Amino acid sequence: MCGIVAYIGDRKAYPILVKGLHRLEYRGYDSAGVAMLNGNLNVYKCKGKVSDLEKFIGDGTTDGTIGIGHTRWATHGVPNDVNAHPHYSESKNLVIIHNGIIENYAAIKAELKKRGHTFLSDTDTEVLIHLIEEIQKNDSLKLGEAVRQALNQVVGAYAIVVMSKSNPDELVAAKKGSPMVIGIGKGEFFIASDATPIVEYTKNVVYLEDEEIAFIPRNGELKIKTIKNRPKTPSVQALELNLEAIEKGGYDHFMLKEIYEQPRSIKDSMRGRLNAEKGIVNLGGIAEYEQKFLNAKRIIFIACGTSWHAGLVGEYLFEDLTRIPVEVEYASEFRYRNPIIYEDDVVIAISQSGETADTLAAIELAKSKGATIVGICNVVGSSIARATHAGSYTHAGPEIGVASTKAFTAQVTVLTLMALRIAQRKGTISSTRFHQLLSELESIPAKIEKVLKLNEQIKTIASKYKDSSNALYLGRGFTFPVALEGALKLKEISYIHAEGYPAAEMKHGPIALIDEEMPVFVIATKGGSYEKVVSNIQEVKARKGKIIAIVSEGDEHVKEMADYTIEIPETDEILVPLVSVVPLQLLSYHVAVMRGCNVDQPRNLAKSVTVE
Ligand code: AGP
Ligand code: GLU
Repeated sequence: MCGIVAYIGDRKAYPILVKGLHRLEYRGYDSAGVAMLNGNLNVYKCKGKVSDLEKFIGDGTTDGTIGIGHTRWATHGVPNDVNAHPHYSESKNLVIIHNGIIENYAAIKAELKKRGHTFLSDTDTEVLIHLIEEIQKNDSLKLGEAVRQALNQVVGAYAIVVMSKSNPDELVAAKKGSPMVIGIGKGEFFIASDATPIVEYTKNVVYLEDEEIAFIPRNGELKIKTIKNRPKTPSVQALELNLEAIEKGGYDHFMLKEIYEQPRSIKDSMRGRLNAEKGIVNLGGIAEYEQKFLNAKRIIFIACGTSWHAGLVGEYLFEDLTRIPVEVEYASEFRYRNPIIYEDDVVIAISQSGETADTLAAIELAKSKGATIVGICNVVGSSIARATHAGSYTHAGPEIGVASTKAFTAQVTVLTLMALRIAQRKGTISSTRFHQLLSELESIPAKIEKVLKLNEQIKTIASKYKDSSNALYLGRGFTFPVALEGALKLKEISYIHAEGYPAAEMKHGPIALIDEEMPVFVIATKGGSYEKVVSNIQEVKARKGKIIAIVSEGDEHVKEMADYTIEIPETDEILVPLVSVVPLQLLSYHVAVMRGCNVDQPRNLAKSVTVE
């Protein structure tokens, strides 16, 4: 998610900042900015790329041996020049850069406004720097102490660096939930989201831990303490990774990194929206349109590819929980088949990129007929996000790998929250079931962590089927969309022909394909249709098909029939898609790597299909 860079030492800061931001570009972003201090605070920021920022700066003053730089991945406020970082405090004496989300920014902003603060941007970040200055001013505090006290009032995730016009000899940095590395040079310090901007200057780094603050002097020792004021001894480590590897966080491919990011990205999708303990689901982005859902006689999902599979999970979720009839439409078909659209329809458009041409066109068609359009996008301020009446961002962070992984589970997470919220409002879910599902949803990231530990076992299974020409994926109920998604993952990165099917439907044709060469991946987790899926497995076995089954932990029954079983933590049937898709993502990844395919940029594919 975006990036931060900062420098204090005896070199000119600007070149180090810009080069560092270029190094962080792989992380995905929508705007960039820098601030240097040389007596004056010179702040330059704009929407677009780092190269656009350099053009924007032109011959502007870039002197100063202390500075901060930022690439933004917007979460609050669309990508534009004003919302780009760094952000000023009220007096313009302080500037901040921030990665993450301040969940309680609205309440803090309201309080600060009462005290006369004025805000230039829509961001949560600007609120934080105003709060820091408010505390500093009220209690005549040093900057670091003001930052510490402010962070004790903040809920959310942050990696921040704060610089003060009145103190050119210190940077204050802090982190919680977003990454931060401090490089220790000779009489100079470097700060960044990861080691890529640092590694060419020094190999000695300190990885800041959550809820730690770093006081970084121009000359002197790095000091660290917790936000609870407990001093910490910096743990200096020697960087071993090479630059290329670091860009992918140490993973061989962005796709693998993004598969492993899912526990965090799902948490980010729920951040500020789910409080299981209090039984609260709150989606601010659709709050004003909940009545449209309550009045809706139909919900229509429109999407493409993996997002369409998320929509299919959405159909099962919404019909099961809210009892509202649902249709799921391929956007490319919907836009041309002269569909019947009513004014009381709620259309939910799902898109990771927010730029898919077919989905955008389908939105415009539905909007022209008077339907209410809700978006579920991963890119803030994207075309689809701006074309909808309301929506919820998935907050999965940039997805670089063309094959969608963390975006899918983030979409399903948001759909689950949305369906639960509407079901609660409609009274179509019992309080017991509602609270049970909220608690279970909160436990999903930990369950996915457990599945990720099966990676080596999954890699071994992948090696058995890497030379297959075809593959069949079977699921039923909530796992039918997962079968489709698993098949899409395999075919789009390994180029093996794979089909997903409702398990029972196999008898109506695909069973003719079954032979001893055909791997059949079956999601056979515990749930309403478990026994039926077991019968389908027996039908495949009877024709010598190879069964790779994804089962609930402890299931010995299917293990006796399958050639391989992957045991995943048990969860509620409606949440199984979030957990059961992960082994299929890993499986397709390893098969593709073993086949020497370009995993992150598969042939013929684009990350966002912005043309028809
Ligand atoms: C999924 O792995 C593919 N990259 C593709 O099917 C993708 O889901 C589809 O193009 C839709 O993209 P969107 O979510 O950005 O609209
Ligand atoms: N939440 C902040 C914003 O929207 C920071 C986003 C980021 O991590 O870049 O500006």
